[in-house]
Amino acid sequence: MWHSAPMGLWERYMVPRLIGFCCTQPPVMKRRKLVVPQAEGEVLELGAGGGANFALYDPSRVARVQGVDPSPGLLDRACDAAKAEGLEFDIEEGIAEALPFADDAFDTVLITFTLCSVQDQMQSLAEARRVLKPDGKLLFLEHGAAPDANVAKWQRRIEPVWKRIAGGCHLTRPITGAVAQAGFSIVRQDEGYMEKSPRFAGWTEWGEARI
Ligand SMILES: C[S@@+](CC[C@H](N)C(=O)[O-])C[C@H]1O[C@@H](n2cnc3c(N)ncnc32)[C@H](O)[C@@H]1O
Repeated sequence: MWHSAPMGLWERYMVPRLIGFCCTQPPVMKRRKLVVPQAEGEVLELGAGGGANFALYDPSRVARVQGVDPSPGLLDRACDAAKAEGLEFDIEEGIAEALPFADDAFDTVLITFTLCSVQDQMQSLAEARRVLKPDGKLLFLEHGAAPDANVAKWQRRIEPVWKRIAGGCHLTRPITGAVAQAGFSIVRQDEGYMEKSPRFAGWTEWGEARI
């Protein structure tokens, strides 16, 4: 029990700082620019913590952004980031596995670097499908399981410790494969290691999927 209080403080105060720093490095922002400006209409951002995407939405295409995230520390940061932008943002506490929104409510669901951290990837993607309009799109950008055996081996070794220090972030999860497994049709997909990033955390896949 002695370690639960320090881990609670770590989660509340240090994880938001760590995520805020790592998730806004130039190579990461470069990837985001390939995805976020494709969002349009009523947008739901899953795991909006930190608000790193907020400045990248195209105001001429987006009507409103609804964000959900379970982390109080990251929600605070997201609310600050939202204030700086000229778009309508509604940020609330919630989890991707149980979204408090009606069916067919959004034109776009955006999910960036969040499928690594949710408790249940398939349930989160099922919820994304449920709240998307029939002609809506899922935009995704995630890091995860690398295709190279040596990198994958290190991902498996590092993951148990990494999860504990990085807010539950997994290194070995599938990305596009999970989106397809959840029943989406992949209409665009790209992939590769991020430059200037450790390879165990740098394999990324991004793209667009439809119901
Ligand atoms: C690595 S951070 C990425 C934050 C943001 N999506 C970005 O692109 O910078 C992972 C995020 O997932 C959030 N998260 C963790 N579990 C979640 C869940 N079950 N549902 C939604 N978001 C979750 C965390 O609070 C955190 O904000």
